[in-house]
Amino acid sequence: MTLFDVYPLNNITITKASGSYVWDDKGTKYLDMYGGHAVISIGHTHPHWVKRIEDQLEQIAFYSNSIIIPLQQQLAQKLGEISGKEDFHLFLCNSGAEANENALKLASFHNGKKKVIAFSKAFHGRTSLAVAVTDNPKIVAPVNQTENVIFLPFNNEAALEQCFADQGNEISSVIIEGIQGVGGINIASDRFLQKIRSLCNHYNAVYIADSVQCGYGRSGLFFSHDHAGVPADIYTMAKGMGNGFPVGGIIIAPHLKAFHGMLGTTFGGNHLACAAALAVLEVIEQENLLTNAEQTGNYLLSKLSEIEGIENVRGRGLMIGFDVPEDLKDLRKNLLNKHKIFTGEAKPNVIRLLPSLTLTMGQADEFLKALQAEIAFLKQVPAAV
Ligand SMILES: Cc1ncc(COP(=O)(O)O)c(C=O)c1O
Repeated sequence: MTLFDVYPLNNITITKASGSYVWDDKGTKYLDMYGGHAVISIGHTHPHWVKRIEDQLEQIAFYSNSIIIPLQQQLAQKLGEISGKEDFHLFLCNSGAEANENALKLASFHNGKKKVIAFSKAFHGRTSLAVAVTDNPKIVAPVNQTENVIFLPFNNEAALEQCFADQGNEISSVIIEGIQGVGGINIASDRFLQKIRSLCNHYNAVYIADSVQCGYGRSGLFFSHDHAGVPADIYTMAKGMGNGFPVGGIIIAPHLKAFHGMLGTTFGGNHLACAAALAVLEVIEQENLLTNAEQTGNYLLSKLSEIEGIENVRGRGLMIGFDVPEDLKDLRKNLLNKHKIFTGEAKPNVIRLLPSLTLTMGQADEFLKALQAEIAFLKQVPAAV
């Protein structure tokens, strides 16, 4: 049997990782400014995380959601404290798509309505409804297509208002990333999120804050949507939540009520996943990682803005993007192959930085130095004829 060939792969095999570095099978060290796609929040193989998972593994790894799992309650408690959403409720699942799927479904159960507003360049996952609210026709199979999704331009208050005025009675929820990741690091403006909040209040719709990539402290606040100063009704989470252990979840405002059987999953909230997620929150707290994300992020943003050649430096905390003009089109590839630095991309020409929230100023400098050297190199090389 061979693998189903869906991923365009770099020819690199990573065999070891620690903090913000990974090593390949030949012993070559790489700086990880990509965080394994925004997943590594507290640093690769953080010792506290490893120990908590190992200790849990020796006790019990899994039992189904038919029994009491105190670790789930501990996780809910800690998440409430750190996120400041103490009166919310937690439902645990396994991935970002599943979190969004459950959020959209819960919203519809709550208000009995069918339509969802999503935005241009949104990415919310690859399962049925999550992919239907994703603005990329290439990954939406015919079976996922639905007339229940309305796409509106991102950050366009007038279009949003008009849509609610026309169809408010049918709109169940609005789903939005606080900072679009796959779409190229586009920040939802505070005013736009405030407008979503007030329209959802007025029309009895549910505001869903997709925090799968921009959440868990990456923006310098626990949820990037918090920058707008208004609460969402549901926050969806995954990626950084387990630091690489697959775990996702949604937190739900108190006015949304549960009934038995409403949502469910076999693996979600298992003992091992909870131990990993608790370890992440403990390290975020102990090592003050929200502050580090903000400070190191601000440093990177200001230094990047001074670099000539790259354009439109943007982001918040350690979620940063910039445009790469045509003459530097090999920049990302060369950062990886020559300078041994992983970065993320967003098509067609954006480099995304999504490093561990433990990134130090020294590591930020290491990246900046390599970036400047490579830009200088590429600008000297005459374009191939
Ligand atoms: C904003 C956002 N939502 C949802 C998802 C889907 O998460 P997963 O791949 O864990 O299903 C992603 C993944 O990149 C994402 O960036």
